[in-house]
Amino acid sequence: MSTVATTISTSSALAEPTRTAEVQPCTLVIFGASGDLTRRKLLPALYNLLLDGLLPSNFAVLGMGRKSFSDEEFRDFARGGIEQFSRQTINTERWTEFQDRLFYLAGEISEPDSFGVMNTRLHTIESTFHLPGHRIYYLAIPPTAFAAACEGLSQAGLVYSVEPGSPFSRVIVEKPIGRDLESAKDINAIVGKDFEESQIYRIDHYLGKETVQNIMVMRFANAIFEPLWNHKYIDHVQITVSEAETLGTRASYYEEAGALRDMVQNHILQLLCLIAMEPPYSLDPDVVRNARMDVLRGLHPIQGKDVEHLTVRAQYSHGTIKGKEVPGYRREENVRPDSTTETYVALKVFVENWRWAGVPFYIRTGKAMPKRASEIAVQFKDIPQILFNANPHTPQAPNLLTLRIQPEEGMALRIISKVPGTKAKTHPVDMDFQYGDAFANPSQEAYERLLLDVMIGDASLFMRRDAVEASWGWITNILEGWADHGSKWLPEYPAGTWGPVEADRLIETEGRKWRLV
Ligand code: BG6
Repeated sequence: MSTVATTISTSSALAEPTRTAEVQPCTLVIFGASGDLTRRKLLPALYNLLLDGLLPSNFAVLGMGRKSFSDEEFRDFARGGIEQFSRQTINTERWTEFQDRLFYLAGEISEPDSFGVMNTRLHTIESTFHLPGHRIYYLAIPPTAFAAACEGLSQAGLVYSVEPGSPFSRVIVEKPIGRDLESAKDINAIVGKDFEESQIYRIDHYLGKETVQNIMVMRFANAIFEPLWNHKYIDHVQITVSEAETLGTRASYYEEAGALRDMVQNHILQLLCLIAMEPPYSLDPDVVRNARMDVLRGLHPIQGKDVEHLTVRAQYSHGTIKGKEVPGYRREENVRPDSTTETYVALKVFVENWRWAGVPFYIRTGKAMPKRASEIAVQFKDIPQILFNANPHTPQAPNLLTLRIQPEEGMALRIISKVPGTKAKTHPVDMDFQYGDAFANPSQEAYERLLLDVMIGDASLFMRRDAVEASWGWITNILEGWADHGSKWLPEYPAGTWGPVEADRLIETEGRKWRLV
């Protein structure tokens, strides 16, 4: 297929969105500060915010973890993470400014005394830098430790109420928020005991991705898509999130999770919400979240025996990814040799409302696939069989709008064009927009945007309690269906391939095909 390049004017597109509040000077307390998330994502994100002039001029970070780091060692740990994972390189002067604000406290969350020590430490840091006492607590720890962290904070007087004039206390909750509806409710209740809903920021890092935020802009800042965005013109939607990675060192978590819990319950359902939602009447965080929530409410439940024809789960077997041999999932370190954890899932989903009546949303995600690619493809209906589409043996390719979430971030619209020459010959071409070509500024990392939003107090890109529970409710039906009706052995797909034949059948029975991404 040929490509028609488009030129995008960047002037108006670069306008900053209106923010209702300024970033406040604050202290970020990270629980789990010596862990992977802190090193790979949180510290690099903070450092990039500083380089971009977006961090408040006055801030401090107090990391708490089990490792017995001194402040100096924590700074070295931070520098190592930033050197390896930051999108911008270390600048000596700015680094000194950054590292002088990093502090560390070695301690056990399960020890109530730790919070007394934390209190004293916070007061010292805040009085040294004249910080006003606004605090953000980041729970980069397993959910089993949430209760101790929240209770410890509350009992040590470290959680302020939301009265006007009082400094803010906000808490950021990392996934997994549960493994089914019941456990999600438990976690929400635990965090909700010490923090009010308006103080809780539940992370789904997909919502922080630039390309994911662009879904709403694409739909509601352009005149041409919305009139067509419904069952009259759209044949179906495909959401693909494929990863070439295998398990890495995460077997203990992944064995208990699997692809449905790990990727669909959160990230993919949120992508679906953004594609399917009604236009919100304002950009107020709760109005936007209500609109996303309505999609979750409208999902047709997949219950009982439905799992047999609406879902496919599979596991990767021995294969080759990018020329490298990979063992089968059940041979990976710390995976049970008889594990039935799915590393791939495909679903056929319906949103039961007027706009989407009868339009299938096909979802697929998996590990150990040929490449990393996340995209949403909206396929429009066939045109009538007349004029340029008169020959039933050579039907025209339908129009297709592809949103590339990552990598090669951008968007393409497939249209049919005349092939130059004297014949009435046609060919599909792509109008293609690439972020990298259109905008000089590289995209921010998701965690940069999300941390900044918590400092501002903008919860639009975070998961509200009701949304977490609605998506877990829907997922739990599938998990129960698999438990009651699934077969003991999962189909397999060789590592480095696009999933099992069963997934092809799921879509092909209706004359459709998975897209080649
Ligand atoms: C995480 C999952 O939430 O998202 C991982 O736990 C997955 O298994 C990751 O690899 C994918 O995120 P991204 O941003 O790399 O697409």
